[in-house]
Amino acid sequence: MTTSLPRPGRVRPRRLRTTTAMRRLTAETRLHPAELVLPLFVREGLTEARPIASMPGVLQHTRDSLKGAVSDAAAAGLGGVMLFAIPEVRDAVGSQATAPDGILNLAIADAVAEAGDALVVQADLCLDEFTDHGHCGVLTPAGAVDNDATLVRYAEMALAQAAAGAHLVGLSGMMDGQVGVVRDALDDAGHDQVAVLAYAAKYASAFYGPFRDAVESQLEGDRRTYQMDPANRREAAREVAIDIAEGADVVMVKPAMSYLDVLADVAAVSTVPVSAYQVSGEYAMIEAAAAHGWIERERAILESVLSIRRAGADHVLTYFATELAAWLAEEK
Ligand code: PBG
Repeated sequence: MTTSLPRPGRVRPRRLRTTTAMRRLTAETRLHPAELVLPLFVREGLTEARPIASMPGVLQHTRDSLKGAVSDAAAAGLGGVMLFAIPEVRDAVGSQATAPDGILNLAIADAVAEAGDALVVQADLCLDEFTDHGHCGVLTPAGAVDNDATLVRYAEMALAQAAAGAHLVGLSGMMDGQVGVVRDALDDAGHDQVAVLAYAAKYASAFYGPFRDAVESQLEGDRRTYQMDPANRREAAREVAIDIAEGADVVMVKPAMSYLDVLADVAAVSTVPVSAYQVSGEYAMIEAAAAHGWIERERAILESVLSIRRAGADHVLTYFATELAAWLAEEK
C-alpha cells in the first residue's frame, strides 16, 4: 500500500506562520525584561559621563549618572545590573578593588541604595580593571598570572563587595578554584546569602575588544593562559561541573553569539541557572552595521538576544537591556 504517503500539501508547517496571533501563540521562546541584565561602567574622577568610542550609546558613568542608569534599569523591569569600575589609580595587586572607598565598592552601595530590592545588583569580581598590568590576577616575579595568590585577592574582593551590599558577585577571572575560595570567604564572614555567578566557560575572545576600551585596559598580550581556547567545546562542561561542585549559584557562557553550541551543551547539563553574556564586540558589530544601514538595528538586536535565549540561556547580559525591555513592553 502506498496510500499512507501524505497527499502533496497535506503537511503544511506554514499554517502556524499565517498571522501574527498564530506566530505569537506558537513561539517557542519569548523575551522578558526580567531575563535581561545591564552591564554598566563607572569611572572614578569624572565630572560628566563620557561616551565610549567603540561602543556607541554606552557610557563611562560618573557616580551620579550611574544612579540614573540604575534607576532606569529598575523602571524597565530588568533582572539586574552588572557593575564594572575604572579606578583613577592602578597598581600591581589592584588595591582599589578591595579598598572600601574604591570606586567599584562605592558604586555597588550607590546602586543598592538606588534600586533597593528591585534589581539584583551584581559586581564584576576580577582584578583587570584595577591592576597596572591589566591582567585578571597578580603576577609572579617572572610575569605569569599566579593562580593561588590571585585567589587570596579574590576572597578579599568578595568581602569588600559583600560589605558594600552586592547581591551577587560575578567571578570573571577564570582562576582555578575561584568559586570555592570565594564561597568559603563569604560564608566565613556571614555573607552566606550573597550569590556567586561563575563565568564558567569564558573564552579568550577577540570580541572583548571594545570592553578593553571601556575600562581603559592596560593589558599587553592576551589572557590565553587562563581564559578558554575558542577551539574547545567539551571543556566547557568540565568547567561548569567544577564550578557547580564548588558552589556556583549561576554559571555563565561568554561570549554568547559565537558560542551558542557551548551554551546549548551547558544548558543541557547545568543544575543551576545559566547566564550568557552578549559582549562588547557583539554589541559593537550590531551598532556598526546598523549605523551603515546594513542591518535593521531593532530586528537584529531582538533576533540576537532571542537566539541566545533559544540556545539555552536563562538570562542574558546585554548592553541593549534597557532599550530592549522598553520594546518588549510596547509589544504587549
Ligand atoms: C574581566 C571581564 C572582561 C569582560 C567582562 N569581564 C574582559 C576580559 O575578560 O578581557 C568583557 C565584557 C565585554 O566584552 O563586554 N573583568
